[in-house]
Amino acid sequence: MACRPQLTPVLRRLARTTSELSRQAPRPQVLSLTRTAAAAGSRSLGSSQPRPFQHTPARRKDGDDFTSIKYPELKRDGRFGRLTLDHVAHFRSLLGDSNSALIDGVANAEAAADDLEPFNSDWMRKYRGHTQLVLKPASTTEVSQILKYCNDNMLAVVPQGGNTGLVGGSVPVFDEIVLSMSRMSQILEFDDVSGTLVAEAGCILEVADQYLAARGYIFPLDLGAKGSCHLGGNLSTNAGGLRLLRYGSLHGTVLGIEAVLPDGTVVDDLSRLRKNNTGYDLKQLFIGAEGTIGVITKVSIQCPQRPAAQNVAFFGLESYEHAQRAFREAKGQLSEILSAFELMDEGSQALVHRVTGSKRPLESTHPFYCLIETSGSNADHDSEKLSAFLESVMDKGIVADGTLAQDETQLRALWAWREGITEALGHLGGVFKYDVSIPLAQMYQLVEDTRARVAEAGLLGDDADGTHPVRAVVGYGHMGDSNLHLNISTRRFDPRIEKVLEPFVYEWIAQRQGSISAEHGLGLAKKKYIGYSRSEGMVGLMKQIKGLYDPRGIMNPYKYI
Ligand code: FAD
Ligand code: MLT
Ligand code: ZN
Repeated sequence: MACRPQLTPVLRRLARTTSELSRQAPRPQVLSLTRTAAAAGSRSLGSSQPRPFQHTPARRKDGDDFTSIKYPELKRDGRFGRLTLDHVAHFRSLLGDSNSALIDGVANAEAAADDLEPFNSDWMRKYRGHTQLVLKPASTTEVSQILKYCNDNMLAVVPQGGNTGLVGGSVPVFDEIVLSMSRMSQILEFDDVSGTLVAEAGCILEVADQYLAARGYIFPLDLGAKGSCHLGGNLSTNAGGLRLLRYGSLHGTVLGIEAVLPDGTVVDDLSRLRKNNTGYDLKQLFIGAEGTIGVITKVSIQCPQRPAAQNVAFFGLESYEHAQRAFREAKGQLSEILSAFELMDEGSQALVHRVTGSKRPLESTHPFYCLIETSGSNADHDSEKLSAFLESVMDKGIVADGTLAQDETQLRALWAWREGITEALGHLGGVFKYDVSIPLAQMYQLVEDTRARVAEAGLLGDDADGTHPVRAVVGYGHMGDSNLHLNISTRRFDPRIEKVLEPFVYEWIAQRQGSISAEHGLGLAKKKYIGYSRSEGMVGLMKQIKGLYDPRGIMNPYKYI
């Protein structure tokens, strides 16, 4: 992708002539988060080499961090069968004997504990289940045989993709079988005229995108977990990501799916057609179903041409009001080339800085920062537009300071200040994560009100001796989609924090007709709060659909609705 080095001097010139701007030259730095993460023995997601989740070091074998212990109100459903050696023998007869197809902790729990651990623990290390069996089918037929057997024998199943979900949906609560899609990772077809890609559900997002890049196309979804998450997981969570503003939701780009219902029926809806008005559009039900009605096995998706030119700018702003004005200007002036508009507050950036130790992109600090990306087909046209935009927002006093990526490395470095927030927060301890949609004008107020509430409760303080359990209350997110990520960074899990936050946050959102989950889904974390965003009638209909597709309730129990 070509960047426009000549734009930086334009910005420098503006920086010198505009009184509100910093006098320092722009200096985006490469974040060292990946190296820091590796040194700390944790996950790292932003690399160009996809990293399988299984490489994550195992967590300790015993402890009080099991979901079933942390949330004693959750009770194992007695209708579900307990796994026996006979069940395992049956699965071996279906999948073969090797460890790549099956991890068996039923025969010898101790011996399998380390291998099972990554499938029991979620990315945040907040939820931890007790599965004794991981099945890794290699074909749709095997998925079908597994599910039919589980359904007949009342064995509960958790479908698992890259296990990067942030709401506890991808790991078991009790002893549910984990059905890992990691062996179904092939790209099956690509039509380089229409841009239609067909792949198995276990294909890693970044692998799909790299395959497309080599052919001049781009996957219409991008997110910080791209090196680990699967296409099937992306569809199942209806992931939004960094460029929804440009490429739209998966509800629009997905053309078809193949899925398997709990009774083993294969749903063949793998259409490659853009238009198909023949009956109910049932694939839409699987997009965002979080593994509760069946297992997605294949995906067909419409991919756009990869933009020939891409630019990234990073701005400092003095208030949230300024950020809104910048967004309005960006839409108006950059229109068809605008591909991302992301918001970060100073608190979130300070935490990234603390974890990475990297030099910050701007010389001075500001209450808010925005990252703007443009993607277009004509580099000269795009840079002209961006220059004009920068000049205008600076002249109007909307932007206080700014820098522009001069090459691909700097572009990635600037993105890392946004994409690296999740991982940085994870390094600092426990995080309460809220992923919400709120009308734009009121969006950041939620962070301020929450911060004030936590402070009033005496829980907030970034003190060296760690007296206060909450280190910071920060906000960032996809401003272009009115999607805020409110995160409460804690030193330790303290039940007092949760009581202060919930249901306060949900009530706040409901009062403004917002959504308690914009993109991460419900999983276990938000299941009981769905009523804050959906009416009783809607939840009733959802339960009917769940009952129709999964009458015995074996698919991802204890989650969703
Ligand atoms: P998993 O975590 O394995 O599973 C998620 C859910 O889908 C579970 O309920 C699981 O049961 C179900 N599931 C998985 N595969 C299948 C299948 N084949 N069939 C049926 N059900 C299935 N999310 C966003 O929306 N936007 C972001 O910008 C974003 N950024 C992230 C950044 C980081 C650093 C991290 C760690 C996460 C981020 N996420 C984001 C959340 C997460 O990555 C996405 O939700 C992703 O789509 C999950 O994919 P996965 O393969 O890891 O699914
Ligand atoms: C993001 O936008 O960074 C992701 O949704 C993850 C998060 O909320 O931290
Ligand atoms: Zn997000």
